[in-house]
Amino acid sequence: MLTWMGVWAFMCGIMGYIGDRQAQSVLLSGLNKLEYRGYDSAGVAIAGDAELQVEKSVGRLAVLADHLAMSPIVGKVGIGHTRWATHGRPSDENAHPHTACDREFAVVHNGIIENYLQLKEHLLSRGHRFTSETDTEVVAHLLEEYFTGDLFSTVLRVIKEIRGAYALAVVAEKEPEKIVAVRKHSPLVVGFGDGEQFLASDIPALLDYTREVHILAEGEIAVLTKDGIACYDLAGEPMTVEPFFVTWDAQAAEKGGYAHYMLKEIYEQPKAVRDTLSGRLTEEGRGVVLPELAWTVEEIKKIDRIHIVACGTSYHAGLVGKAAIEQLARIPVDVEVASEYRYRDPILSADTLILVISQSGETADTLAALRNAKACGNRVLAITNVVGSSVAREADDVMITWAGPEISVASTKAYTTQLIALYLLAIYLGQSLQVIDAVFISELVHEMQTLPQKLDDVLETAPQIEKIAQAFSTWDDAFFLGRGIDYFVALEGALKYKEISYIHAEAYPAGELKHGTLALIVEQVPVIALVTQDVLYEKSLSNIKEVKARDAYVLGIAWAGDDEIAKSVDRVLYVPRTMSFFAPVMLIAPLQLLAYYASVARGNDVDKPRNLAKSVTVE
Ligand code: G6P
Repeated sequence: MLTWMGVWAFMCGIMGYIGDRQAQSVLLSGLNKLEYRGYDSAGVAIAGDAELQVEKSVGRLAVLADHLAMSPIVGKVGIGHTRWATHGRPSDENAHPHTACDREFAVVHNGIIENYLQLKEHLLSRGHRFTSETDTEVVAHLLEEYFTGDLFSTVLRVIKEIRGAYALAVVAEKEPEKIVAVRKHSPLVVGFGDGEQFLASDIPALLDYTREVHILAEGEIAVLTKDGIACYDLAGEPMTVEPFFVTWDAQAAEKGGYAHYMLKEIYEQPKAVRDTLSGRLTEEGRGVVLPELAWTVEEIKKIDRIHIVACGTSYHAGLVGKAAIEQLARIPVDVEVASEYRYRDPILSADTLILVISQSGETADTLAALRNAKACGNRVLAITNVVGSSVAREADDVMITWAGPEISVASTKAYTTQLIALYLLAIYLGQSLQVIDAVFISELVHEMQTLPQKLDDVLETAPQIEKIAQAFSTWDDAFFLGRGIDYFVALEGALKYKEISYIHAEAYPAGELKHGTLALIVEQVPVIALVTQDVLYEKSLSNIKEVKARDAYVLGIAWAGDDEIAKSVDRVLYVPRTMSFFAPVMLIAPLQLLAYYASVARGNDVDKPRNLAKSVTVE
């Protein structure tokens, strides 16, 4: 599988141009190709014959393009950015590029500057005035602070001061004939043209202009002038660079070499899980820390019940959350779809916590449920993937899932990271209430850290799943069975399957089959049976026998090493063993792939299934 850009930190898109064309149009067209990396705000800085000019605005790139169409910026050197907020909500001020006090430097950045608060404090004491809430702005002020008359050596000095992951591109009013860019743990590519040079976060943004590219190495610095690109290491020593010629088709390159965004996002899950765990486990790995929840133990003790409210895939994550919170924290939890909850006049005590889950943070029903709860005076915690979304802004407390932008309508990595956030919350509550002991907590934490690698292993079974999906795709029905937590994953598996393959799919708690659904089980009909819950193992096997007796074709998904299951089903897919609790993280990847390959086999538009939208912002 082609993952040519390797691992990236939180995503934003960077574009840069220097040459004879008007920079504005090159930047907009490149950013358009990078919008999948982030789309909550965008901006450009263009160094013309006159002073450095910056235009930026909250919203999608189209908003910026409209502004620039009305008042174009003239100039042939520029940098641009499309943002996915991490530090600071999406707003005009927080959009990139960032400038310093005298507006003589402009900076775009992808990644996170970990020590920005200390740097900011120092710069404030030196009289710098900040206009945004971002970590990036410190770079512009550091440039201003240290500028020696030479942009390149000033950048070298600045990057000695900053810690974290970054791709940076910088232009200076006093040296308008160059762009300086640097890469550390965030991708950056330069493109070579004839009398013009380019810079981008990702190759697709360059392909309309050049196919001669060089991917910057870790710690590499590039200086772009109209006539060429010079590369240096962190010590400022020149490096030899051999560009390569891109032969890929532009559309495929945009998806990182994957055929669809959905597949790319499925493969991003190990990284997304790692990012969501990052900073939330204690350094010795013995517990959970959630700095975003400034709750006292007394406040936690007062929570008498939790209502989880969400839609679609987020609702399915909520069901797993209920199991985890009830077991680990012994707090009763109800889970409801937001469209029902909002009209139901639920019974709330003053101490009921409302937990809304929403990838986009904009789903109308979820937002309405949140507002109702707030109007009743209840505390609302949100789990969302979008910093600065309505849900994030209006909730009292927010846990961000660090899945990065999810483009495919069918949600994949957002679900997995929601599960992780819910597990973290459950452990945090259990640990605060002392419901679970220290040994069990460290077992849970240790096991969570193994999940990304195990998920990588699951994804290696994709070729087997593709073959099964092709066979299943000729059927008009599929049944997904499970017991306990496996049933909650079966619900999500069936949803994925129906929404993109358009095959009728139903999920059932396996013990309930005999009350009706068994009548639909006919010879060879596909049944996907999830069997990972140890306490329910025997029960699950006897349910499988019920469908096998009607000659269904049963695909079992079970723990590696479970030889018994193979005797009862037609085919088994094994997933690496983890604690029963965390089984959903292992089970969901094969189910996503099954849906994906069935959709491909049927020739459907995988990323944009008919009648569905990524974010449902109307009732
Ligand atoms: C739409 C999307 C689903 C998503 C649901 C809830 O139906 O297609 O993938 O699960 O909305 O969205 P949210 O952004 O609130 O999680």
